[in-house]
Amino acid sequence: MVRIIFVIFGATGDLTQRKLLPAFYNLMTNGMEIDILAIGRRDKEETFAQEALAAVDTHGHLARTPEADKTFLKHIRYHRMDITDESAYTELQKQVGAEAIYYFATSPSLFKHILKGMQHAGMTRGKVMFEKPFGENLDTARKLNKKITKVFPETSIYRIDHYLGKESVQNLLVLRLANRLFDAVWNRDYIDHVQITVAESIGVATRGNYYDHAGALKDMVKNHLFQLLMLVAMEPPATLDARAIHDEKVKVLRAMKPFSAKRVKEDVVRGQYRKGTIAGEEVKGYLQEENIPKKSTTETFIAMKMLVDNHRWKDVPFYLRTGKRLAKREAEITIQFKQMSHPLFPKLQENIICIRLQPDAGISLQFNTKHPGDKIQVHPVIMDFCHDCVFGPNTPEAYEQLLQAAIKGDATLFARWDEVEESWKLVEPIMKHWKQQAIPTYAAGSMGPREAKHLLERDGRRWHL
Ligand code: BG6
Repeated sequence: MVRIIFVIFGATGDLTQRKLLPAFYNLMTNGMEIDILAIGRRDKEETFAQEALAAVDTHGHLARTPEADKTFLKHIRYHRMDITDESAYTELQKQVGAEAIYYFATSPSLFKHILKGMQHAGMTRGKVMFEKPFGENLDTARKLNKKITKVFPETSIYRIDHYLGKESVQNLLVLRLANRLFDAVWNRDYIDHVQITVAESIGVATRGNYYDHAGALKDMVKNHLFQLLMLVAMEPPATLDARAIHDEKVKVLRAMKPFSAKRVKEDVVRGQYRKGTIAGEEVKGYLQEENIPKKSTTETFIAMKMLVDNHRWKDVPFYLRTGKRLAKREAEITIQFKQMSHPLFPKLQENIICIRLQPDAGISLQFNTKHPGDKIQVHPVIMDFCHDCVFGPNTPEAYEQLLQAAIKGDATLFARWDEVEESWKLVEPIMKHWKQQAIPTYAAGSMGPREAKHLLERDGRRWHL
């Protein structure tokens, strides 16, 4: 196999340290032939490799070994350059030589400079990987895409959504389509509603500069939660090829009922955390975090009701919810079945499939059984599958899977342009409407503002998490 060189723009940034370096380390440990050329502005030629090992220590999920350290150090280099300086790319080009994978892990405002520099130096072969956010709105996303596709064909562009690299997310299609039991009932005749919750207990930490421009809608919903929704709602693809899967996914977005101003008001709830307590520890409010303007109205929480207006899902609400500084870190998808009206058993609990994405990946199924005793009494119980218990811990991390997929040229785990474009179309009316509104707050350590609870109560339902 040809040695692949990864050129990382933004090598000293948070993402590279937390996600990319540990992923590269594990891939190299598993024999993957990779070279890394880390690009940064700061003078770190002497220190970068050791700092990279420290990052693996802090953020990696496997223990380091002397053997793996040696391989890693041998294949990682740091190159100092100003990525806004077009002429610097001629020198970079000499260092890269063969076909490369260029990883854009910088702030998105720098993407255009990098593309221009690369074009200037004739670095137009290979693949390009982009971290989100892809644009700041529909217009800037289109402009960015135009710039990229002028230089690289769609087949060489890999737009990251790291949720697609998670094993538990990849399992969604298998669960749905490889089980007659589930496949047969995966529609509006049987399913009452779907809940998708990605709760985080962390705050914005040191990412205030980025986060305050993004907010939960652009940081989480538009990409990660929409991806989960698409995987739950899409029609079965004809094959498992990237194209067939993307084609079906994008149809879900196109079938989504758009957000009119009235719907934004009724079906979308946002919030911002104020100070509170999480796991016994006092934490600051959003407005007291580093680099957050004192009057910021950026949302750190969002809950919304979405409707996929097609034959399979008509009138089945999909409730999405995500937020920072919530009571716990937990992500799950709940499929709640319709209540059975049975002449023999008048008070039955609904069947529920709960797909736990993290931290303890697994699937549980709630069903009714007879409570022991001489009378027939129905009692709901839970059957549980725990992923690690069956397959063991140490499943490859999301980024390992994504980097591997990019090397292989498999686009399945990345967002195609039309998915990105349709997602922007869906969320733009929400962004516009919010501009004039005050933002409700919620206490850190809660599960969001009370309006989020009302969103479901109004429909006679409740959040499971
Ligand atoms: C990132 C967001 O894409 O996903 C972060 O920018 C968020 O704000 C993170 O914390 C959550 O990822 P995970 O894998 O920890 O659920």
